[in-house]
Amino acid sequence: MLAGACVNCHLAGAAGTTSIPSLQGFSEEQLRSRLTAFQAGQVPAATVMPRLMRGFDSEQIAGLARWFAQPAAR
Ligand code: HEC
Repeated sequence: MLAGACVNCHLAGAAGTTSIPSLQGFSEEQLRSRLTAFQAGQVPAATVMPRLMRGFDSEQIAGLARWFAQPAAR
């Protein structure tokens, strides 16, 4: 499950203990465009996400967006 690696960081962010943004409240479309922008290096302030997204193809990004847009995944 690809999403497991994401939750390690992003659930910690949701708890307010780090500066990592929560993945809550994004639509599937918003998530997909954010992840695609990281992959393309279009988010200058980003640190870890561009490195991560370079390891995924667009089909995997679409799957992740679908997963995190489900209320149950949060
Ligand atoms: C090593 C910790 C870490 C992991 C693992 C991680 N992220 Fe992130 N994520 C971050 C950080 C930090 C940011 C803030 C941008 C940056 O600095 O790259 C971020 C930003 C994001 C954003 C943008 C949120 C916003 O408010 O715009 C999305 C969407 C996202 N991550 C999704 C994912 C997905 C999906 C995965 C799993 C493939 C994942 N992240 C794995 C740390 C992580």
